[in-house]
Amino acid sequence: MDVDILAQRPPMGWNSWNCFRGGSVSATGVVEVAQAIVDTGLRDAGYEYVVVDDHWQASRRTATGALVADSTRFPDGIAAVADAVHALGLKFGIYSVPGSVTCGMYYDGYPADGIGSLGHEALDAETFANWGVDYLKYDWCRAHLNDGLRAQTAFRRMADELRRTGRDIVYSLSEYGLFQPWLWAPEFAQMWRTTDDLHEHWWSLAPIISQMQTISHYSRPGAWNDPDMLQVGNGTLTAAEMRTHLSVWAILNAPLMAGHDVRTMTDEVRALLLNPSFLRIDQDWGGAAGRVLARHGVDIWAKPMSTGGSALALVNMREEPITVDVREHVTDDLLGPYADAWTGQRFAEGDLAAVTVDAHDSLLLEPRNPQ
Ligand code: GLA
Repeated sequence: MDVDILAQRPPMGWNSWNCFRGGSVSATGVVEVAQAIVDTGLRDAGYEYVVVDDHWQASRRTATGALVADSTRFPDGIAAVADAVHALGLKFGIYSVPGSVTCGMYYDGYPADGIGSLGHEALDAETFANWGVDYLKYDWCRAHLNDGLRAQTAFRRMADELRRTGRDIVYSLSEYGLFQPWLWAPEFAQMWRTTDDLHEHWWSLAPIISQMQTISHYSRPGAWNDPDMLQVGNGTLTAAEMRTHLSVWAILNAPLMAGHDVRTMTDEVRALLLNPSFLRIDQDWGGAAGRVLARHGVDIWAKPMSTGGSALALVNMREEPITVDVREHVTDDLLGPYADAWTGQRFAEGDLAAVTVDAHDSLLLEPRNPQ
């Protein structure tokens, strides 16, 4: 198996963490969300991985050292959940850590002991493969401090064990950019977190967007920068801020792992996540992920499209509306014509002299054929 055949496009799906934490993740909840992913059209739009994050584990391994799920919340075990998810035409993912302590144990006081994969890598990889796991999120959680591990070695160790199982498992690293994973993770992982946890408010989103400006070029097919799971539909993000979140993720070719409760998704959130122009830009590989061309109040990002031209994201990180003359900041080949993914507004070629972007809002401009 060649790892490069996995994740040719940025992975899409849903992860339990942002809406089920504090020990509230359960088989029932996950399968209901998976059903909602189908019923709302998310699956058919490409959101295919359903990932159970931390807090799924029982407090101890079995007598033979195997990981096992909490028996109250996952009464039939993880394989049954994976089967139910697969039966809906979706793929299934799970969470573990290279050290001895999961983030849930450390930060949330999750009552468990010895459930990290340290010293159990081969058995855990085999267990996951036997359960039908298609995606593993492997989360650092201070393993350098708790266990004296070295990130590259520890992450590679599990990559080797996953490969040995013979199953195609997308390997998703989560070490928050601590050790510059973009320099070494592409050798054996399909995606890696670049930055801190994205929380459900603007003051978490804004610094992550800024940090991505210097490292966006490390993404490529089969090896993606991951600025974290989506917070669309959670917390206090306004409609404008959600557009900015998604515009930047699309222009970065970022993985799109939804993190809200899909069972109660609003029409507004559904329309954002299913926006065809947004999805086309995110999933298209035109030879490079987006990069920032100019920062003049409105940040101007550009990303080449395989279909010709480039997509632009015009992102207002400030507290007041700004009108920008885009022509002053881009080369002639980026003058359009465009259509904005979010409003449908059309811009004829060169018609970018006075584009107003509201506070915290964005336009996501997809090239269109001149008419
Ligand atoms: C870390 C990760 C999160 C989530 C939690 C689980 O904070 O960054 O995405 O996996 O751990 O405990």
